[in-house]
Amino acid sequence: MARTLPKYTVPSLTPQEGAKIAEILQRRLDALNDLALTLKHVHWNVVGPHFIAVHEMLDPQVDAVRLMVDAIAERIATLGVAPVGTPGALVAARTWDDYSIGRDTAIAHLGALDEVYVGVITSHREAAAETEELDTVTNDLLVGHLHELELFHWFVRAHLESAGGALSTASADGEKAAADKARAKGKASA
Ligand SMILES: [Fe+2]
Repeated sequence: MARTLPKYTVPSLTPQEGAKIAEILQRRLDALNDLALTLKHVHWNVVGPHFIAVHEMLDPQVDAVRLMVDAIAERIATLGVAPVGTPGALVAARTWDDYSIGRDTAIAHLGALDEVYVGVITSHREAAAETEELDTVTNDLLVGHLHELELFHWFVRAHLESAGGALSTASADGEKAAADKARAKGKASA
């Protein structure tokens, strides 16, 4: 997509560099807006044993991710570019599928969320690496998010982990497969 160059950007960056960083950040804005909505969807659709633990675990994650979204959008604006926060634009730009699980057990949603976090964190780390040389301030912002995102991922994974440290979702391909693996392991150990 052709970028429109900003009329100004932060001191010491060229408008081209500002536009490039803003484009990287726009993809992170889309990913984290999607994540915040997905976490709320799980908050509403989790059922069965451990309902309240998972239901209540997710709201602080939603709050934290929404703050990340706001910081990313404001960094884009600071760079002189207009952030795009509308749902239609998000869906048109995203490269991943909608979360596909509706009402289901805690363990199935946790298995699927493990995959969701793998995807978000992998692309957030790539974005952080891409900005490392170009803009340390944006890099610092993204690395700060990773501290929290990776902690939240561990909260999810701790439910899927055996006493020996293995994940029930290991080598799952996609969120449905991860949910199935987590569900099967949960039944076997019940
Ligand atoms: Fe709620």
